[in-house]
Amino acid sequence: MTEGQQARLSAHVIVLGNEKGGSGKTTTAMHVIAYLLREGFRVGSIDLDGRQRSLTRYVENRKAWAEAANVNLVMPEHAVIMKSAAATVAEANAAEEAELEATMARLAAANDFLVIDCPGSDSNLSRLGHARADTLITPMNDSFVDFDLLGRVDPQTYRIKGPSVYSEMVWESRKCRAVRDGGEIDWVVVRNRLSHLDAKNKRRVEAVLEALASRIGFRIGPGFGERVIFREMFPSGLTLLDLREEGVDTQMSMSHVAARAEVRALVEALELPLEKIRSEAAEAARA
Ligand SMILES: Nc1ncnc2c1ncn2[C@@H]1O[C@H](COP(=O)(O)OP(=O)(O)O)[C@@H](O)[C@H]1O
Ligand SMILES: [Mg+2]
Repeated sequence: MTEGQQARLSAHVIVLGNEKGGSGKTTTAMHVIAYLLREGFRVGSIDLDGRQRSLTRYVENRKAWAEAANVNLVMPEHAVIMKSAAATVAEANAAEEAELEATMARLAAANDFLVIDCPGSDSNLSRLGHARADTLITPMNDSFVDFDLLGRVDPQTYRIKGPSVYSEMVWESRKCRAVRDGGEIDWVVVRNRLSHLDAKNKRRVEAVLEALASRIGFRIGPGFGERVIFREMFPSGLTLLDLREEGVDTQMSMSHVAARAEVRALVEALELPLEKIRSEAAEAARA
């Protein structure tokens, strides 16, 4: 390691990002967290959306629900990072970076994975988070409005004219990451809230997304379908992965089963180094 480079974090960092609200970042974050926890991994979670705090609320709701129901639910070690109120932009940016560094170092020391949920807008904290990703998941709705943040498309021919604001931001983050520690960001774009209707739009988005994927370097992962169940669970802080837990008294419907399979398929597509981390943890426990 040369001077100026920082020690590589030991935890695998998963970032949820998209410069768009309502695309499913927080919902996906919580399901990935629950999946990893239930697989026996220790997970630290960081909410960079200190204004909406949706992931923070999700975790708080989960704690409250578990206490009220007297159920021992697996929990992430959670932190929220607020936007700095420092007087100048430079000071605020530096303060945010210092706080994120300290929080990540603390959580990485005690966890196998860090899951970072970003705000749906371009901000210093969001950029800092992106530049620290090992895996970046970008959920998008199946529409050209969402696609527009990834690439510009010719309205007549649906040909790709070039990358767009968010893709350029990820490109910058990849450069930052490479300079920091020589690491790479594995970028996975998933289409969330897929409906069975509107097959024509679906095929069009699919075609342009595939064309853009090779051009700007992301993979396309399987997303979640549009399901009420993904919306319903927030107040309890539960996820689909918790429904078979002792004390969590819910009938599994066909929709639940299908939704769980979607969560599993997404995590599998991320190709996370689960076995490597498992054997490292086992070795650390023996030492
Ligand atoms: N697959 C899905 N099916 C149905 N509703 C969903 C799905 N994914 C997300 N939602 C709902 O869409 C809204 C936005 O999702 P959220 O995860 O908060 O997005 P973001 O964090 O990107 O703003 C929320 O009301 C959420 O419950
Ligand atoms: Mg959110």
